Amino acid sequence: MKTHTAVALGLTFALLQAVPASAQQPRADLARTEPRILYGTAVLAGQGAWAASLRAPTLADPKTLAHVCGGSFVDPRYDATKRRVVSWSASQPRPQWLLTAAHCVVENGMKMKEADLRVVGGTLDLTSAQNGDEQEVEQIFVHPDFNADTMHNDVALLRLRPPTKDLDDTRRISIRLPTNADSHWIGKPYLALRVQGWGRTESGFQSARLLEVLIPQVDRQACRAAFEAAGEKLSEGTICAGFTSGDFDSCQGDSGGPLIYRSQSPSPSPGMGAEPTLIGVVSWGIGCGSANLYGVYTSTMAYRRWAETQVVAYYNKK
Ligand code: ARG
Repeated sequence: MKTHTAVALGLTFALLQAVPASAQQPRADLARTEPRILYGTAVLAGQGAWAASLRAPTLADPKTLAHVCGGSFVDPRYDATKRRVVSWSASQPRPQWLLTAAHCVVENGMKMKEADLRVVGGTLDLTSAQNGDEQEVEQIFVHPDFNADTMHNDVALLRLRPPTKDLDDTRRISIRLPTNADSHWIGKPYLALRVQGWGRTESGFQSARLLEVLIPQVDRQACRAAFEAAGEKLSEGTICAGFTSGDFDSCQGDSGGPLIYRSQSPSPSPGMGAEPTLIGVVSWGIGCGSANLYGVYTSTMAYRRWAETQVVAYYNKK
């Protein structure tokens, strides 16, 4: 069973850390019981300024908005004379586009209402959200072939209303998307990626602070085989990341959020990590941190063209 519900707030977990939950639970129950961005560390100032919290009414309390998913600010530069998007670089400190997962903005087969959603950016700490900035959602673009059962094409692009605050670019900035020129280094197994989010941690609760964890990209065949063994089919347009031994992973509430590459040292390859690059969008997994399974991420390389089409359509209507 794919776990893609952005809930799990306020659940209590009787499990103790001593015994790995995966050892005592049948696979189908992992989603509910395994409390494990698992084993992450706090994102430092300036290193998560593209990350945003998507807020929506919850079943428990439809009147207040709560964090349901992550998202990444992106900056499609539209050239009106050429009628196309000419770059997705990271120059926008007042971003108006958010890339997230389709399953974050689709409920019971229906696109959520724009008016119900808010996006909070500009802060790493959601308990002091007033340090950040809240934006309204003008329009939601969901991939037309998104399938909530299989999680195929799990990507959505949100057009936001302009931010109200001026925040400097260490607090809020868009993140660059890869281009075809990056394909020589993106997509290779063992690439050291980072996933960031406010989702469930190993304690079982969501995190007030933005966390990140370092995980390797996984060879596609190996990932496909691992999911086949668990009865799931890996879709095209995805990237797997994680350790065979499990533990370090994204989890519920991280969906929609950034899987990035950022270099730790001088770049070994032209273009590689000169700027932090958005590689994927948190999509699904079976439980969290399960051994012999990985996190599945929507590939930004695979969906950049789709996103460009949405941006062009948006501006052509203006
Ligand atoms: N679908 C989850 C969400 O809605 C994210 C699950 C990621 N799972 C994983 N094992 N990496 O928040």
